[in-house]
Amino acid sequence: MEFSERLKKIPPYLFVELDRLKQKKLEEGVDVIDLGVGDPDIPTPSEIVEVAKKALEKPENHRYPSNKGAFIFRKACVEYMERRFGVSFDPEKEVVALIGSKEGIAHFPIAFVNPGDVVLCPEPAYPVYKLGAVFTDGEPYFLPLTWENGFFPELSKVPEEVLRKTKILWLNYPNNPTGAVATKEQFKEVIEFARKYDFIVAHDAAYVELYFEEPPISIFEVEGAKDVAIEFHSLSKTFCMTGWRIAFAVGNEKLVSALAKVKSNIDSGVFTAVQEAGAYALNNLERLVPPLREVFKKRGELLSKELKALGYEFLPLKATFYLWVKTPKGLSSQEFCKKLIEEAGIVVTPGSGFGPSGEGYFRIALTVEEESLKKVAKRLRELKM
Ligand SMILES: Cc1ncc(COP(=O)(O)O)c(C=O)c1O
Repeated sequence: MEFSERLKKIPPYLFVELDRLKQKKLEEGVDVIDLGVGDPDIPTPSEIVEVAKKALEKPENHRYPSNKGAFIFRKACVEYMERRFGVSFDPEKEVVALIGSKEGIAHFPIAFVNPGDVVLCPEPAYPVYKLGAVFTDGEPYFLPLTWENGFFPELSKVPEEVLRKTKILWLNYPNNPTGAVATKEQFKEVIEFARKYDFIVAHDAAYVELYFEEPPISIFEVEGAKDVAIEFHSLSKTFCMTGWRIAFAVGNEKLVSALAKVKSNIDSGVFTAVQEAGAYALNNLERLVPPLREVFKKRGELLSKELKALGYEFLPLKATFYLWVKTPKGLSSQEFCKKLIEEAGIVVTPGSGFGPSGEGYFRIALTVEEESLKKVAKRLRELKM
């Protein structure tokens, strides 16, 4: 049986070797501490669970959900966008519920990318932007995010002929894996490019509520963004709801309705009970999220202090629950991550797994409790370099 050319283009899973080493350590009885995956260890706030339990009992929720999302959820989405960012959307035409933002991000290019069209993808990055381009026979064109450019793509360096063939530009702020936050000026410049070269700006805002300083902005706070942009929001990280699979996309009516059309031919919507819980979560965000933020903030402070004392170089944690740290002593990402598992029983993600510009970095996810982070600090202190 021959795989499709598209599937063959998907690179092999980069973390196979690290997974094998982790497994070996676990079998040896080592207390392995996993700071690899971006999946919060904290349970979803119990109030949200209670709303879902009640919603589960309703027979009307046992039938197929609405394709574009239940009105109660879409209304909560647009009210949140208005309260938090001061931007207005029509709940009927400018928002669609998603089965997690990954689903929306992967499906969105189907609506706009023809074979050979360019999709501008930052790197290092969440891999789904590139995969969406590959699955539509588009051409991913990579935009390096480096310490020097402040981890923001330099569109002025992209050749004119590439910009002319561009259909979609992906952005993600606050950024995974670097933790960088974008400024309004940066978004403004992007919107100007998009209007000039007639491409779509697809902004992944999955971490927009996980901040520890100034609240990060929505791309729609820039004037004119609604002409060219769509933004993906997720309840996964905000409310520690990764397993629930609920998110939404908002923006330009044509972009949102095209995504909804693709989805209506592939899936049948989000379980309505989950949408009811999601609506409750969004409506109560200002009360429910600060305690969760506080947990990640404390963890970040604890580990940052230790890393600094040990001489590691990294961006101060402003948002997301990731620390993007330079590997010490000129070790490659893979070499250092291997050493950490083998000699310290600590799993982190090699930066090179997110793209070539991630080489020389590793990513720490603050998704274990403080006691484990104290152990991590101790093991790092004892690590022989
Ligand atoms: C940058 C980014 N975007 C989107 C997602 C997908 O989140 P979900 O599908 O749970 O909404 C993730 C998950 O790790 C992510 O890191």
